[in-house]
Amino acid sequence: MLFSQQQWLRQKFSVLGSLVLGSLFFLVVREGTLDRLHLICPIKDRLCPSDTSGQMPLHTLQLKQALGLKLHRRNSIREQLRTHRLIKQLPRAIIIGVRKGGTRALLEMLSLHPAVVKASQEVHFFDNEKNYAHGVDWYLKKMPFSFPHQITVEKSPAYFITEEVPERIFKMNSSIKLLLIVREPTTRTVSDYTQVLEGKEHKNKTYNKFEELVVDSNTCEVNTKYKAVQTSIYSKYLEHWLKFFPIEQFHIVDGDSLITDPLPELKLVERFLNLPSRISQYNLYFNATRGFFCLRFNFMFSKCLAGSKGRIHPDVNTSIKEKLWRFFHPFNQKLYQITGRTFNWP
Ligand code: A3P
Repeated sequence: MLFSQQQWLRQKFSVLGSLVLGSLFFLVVREGTLDRLHLICPIKDRLCPSDTSGQMPLHTLQLKQALGLKLHRRNSIREQLRTHRLIKQLPRAIIIGVRKGGTRALLEMLSLHPAVVKASQEVHFFDNEKNYAHGVDWYLKKMPFSFPHQITVEKSPAYFITEEVPERIFKMNSSIKLLLIVREPTTRTVSDYTQVLEGKEHKNKTYNKFEELVVDSNTCEVNTKYKAVQTSIYSKYLEHWLKFFPIEQFHIVDGDSLITDPLPELKLVERFLNLPSRISQYNLYFNATRGFFCLRFNFMFSKCLAGSKGRIHPDVNTSIKEKLWRFFHPFNQKLYQITGRTFNWP
């Protein structure tokens, strides 16, 4: 009896011990990587902070917060943030869209860069009246903590198609950098439809077939009232943005290339943001099960995007696809002309 109790206790301690050791190992590995944040001077025209010895990696601090360590005193969070020089910064670059273009993949991949800190949630400050009414301080509060030498990036794809947004962003920062990720318009339209269809199915609701929505049954022409079609007319929205910002402030990302070969696209974005090249092939690996590139932060920590990214699209009748290709063609030509970037679209 006594023997089996001892054995049980020994087993329990060994499981607990492994758990503690495992957690410690994970933390050491994770912090080791995050410490790189201090060694890299991310923005060419800025000096590296001279004394970084007192700084604590951002994730370590957040971890401490999560564990409730050291941060138990009143006001201590504020003190800690001050000590470690963590601040909230307005975005220096915004991914303005386009919905279903690959905005999440772009944001996540960019955040592999040690100088980039992402706002994880879509903030919807400039496109949502209620949010916008809270003012820019509200927006700032929604931003993550970062070190002064890092840049904050947020993405809200609705910005691209919302009329009021360009002027509002201009009022906040007229020299902000704007990232627009686009995808072949017909594929994007199908992707948009698929997302809405999935939402309906989750609510046990029925939904029209893609063909029914995309073609006007009276005229047999493309239904330009269908929002998913409208959103794919990129040149129309971009022309509106250009009333406020010069084209040099935009960088167009090829969303189709980001799927098949992300690194060259990311290198272009790094250059546009004046960041030294830090994202490497090591950080991106193809996951055959997912059928997409996934992110590798270090030898222990990697992740793929959620299952809601990379849905299986319904089959679309070829004649409908051709109709859409023909419809988008002139708008695509206009986009190439405005941006100086040509895509291999039909
Ligand atoms: P599909 O779900 O139609 O395939 P957004 O983030 O703007 O909503 O875009 C979603 C799209 O990002 C997905 O559309 C998917 O094709 C694309 N994407 C690009 N890179 C991806 C990646 N590494 N993992 C998953 N999806 C990716």
